[in-house]
Amino acid sequence: MIQLWDVCKSFDGGKTFAVNHLSLTVFEGETLVLLGTSGCGKTTTLKMVNRLIEPDNGRIEVDGKNVLQQNPQDLRRSIGYTFQGIGLFPHMTVADNISIVLRLCGKSRQQRRDRAREMLEMVELDPQRFTNCYPAQLSGGQQQRVGVARALAANPKYLLMDEPFGALDALTRDALQQQFLKLKNEFQKTVIFVTHDIIEALILADRIAVMHGGRIEQIGTKTEILQKPASQFVRNLFAKPAEQLKDFWTALA
Ligand SMILES: Nc1ncnc2c1ncn2[C@@H]1O[C@H](COP(=O)(O)OP(=O)(O)OP(=O)(O)O)[C@@H](O)[C@H]1O
Ligand SMILES: [Mg+2]
Repeated sequence: MIQLWDVCKSFDGGKTFAVNHLSLTVFEGETLVLLGTSGCGKTTTLKMVNRLIEPDNGRIEVDGKNVLQQNPQDLRRSIGYTFQGIGLFPHMTVADNISIVLRLCGKSRQQRRDRAREMLEMVELDPQRFTNCYPAQLSGGQQQRVGVARALAANPKYLLMDEPFGALDALTRDALQQQFLKLKNEFQKTVIFVTHDIIEALILADRIAVMHGGRIEQIGTKTEILQKPASQFVRNLFAKPAEQLKDFWTALA
């Protein structure tokens, strides 16, 4: 379980707040999608969970333990993380990138290679072709898939995923979303998944937390949010894609 209580973060000494009195719970085995417009505080929230950013106040617990009382390195090794904008190490091969946490945990070279190949297959990249490549030799979408493979390589119980499928075409994105759902059901991962894509949120989420201006506007199941939006912002957020689709079909007719 991941829990946040009354968490705040300001980057300008308290004039404005990227995250503002935010509380939420992610239950065991659940995927909570953080959904919201650009700049609403999604990445900042995620980074506070594994201490890439320290909160100004509030309390964050992972597995019942206060994150501020844990060694940041140990904490980060125990939680899979995909960075927004990929964040691969440019001087390391794809295989080394994927297996970096395994190396830090003392796994043998052979174990790391085997796992890297397995992970590449899972994200639909040919191990033969990509194992020894460097990130710069890959397309943006391929790099993004390596980022997902890296987050999953050590089989962590907790996953923090920051727009992991953002740079992918619709077909690859769909394939990886299905893989994600399968994996989640098989291994009972507890996940915070950030996206600003409403359809992706509806496909992947057990519950959705709609964020706006550093706060949570509403948290609930898809049905609760679609049927009983808690604010005009939530109503508009979900109404927009449906309207656009309707306009498109009207224009074609
Ligand atoms: N290191 C930083 N220094 C100063 N301001 C920051 C920093 N990181 C984030 N911010 C600000 O905090 C706010 C929230 O940023 P955050 O990255 O959490 O948004 P986000 O919801 O992830 O947006 P996006 O969908 O564009 O990725 C923004 O106004 C941003 O400019
Ligand atoms: Mg972000």
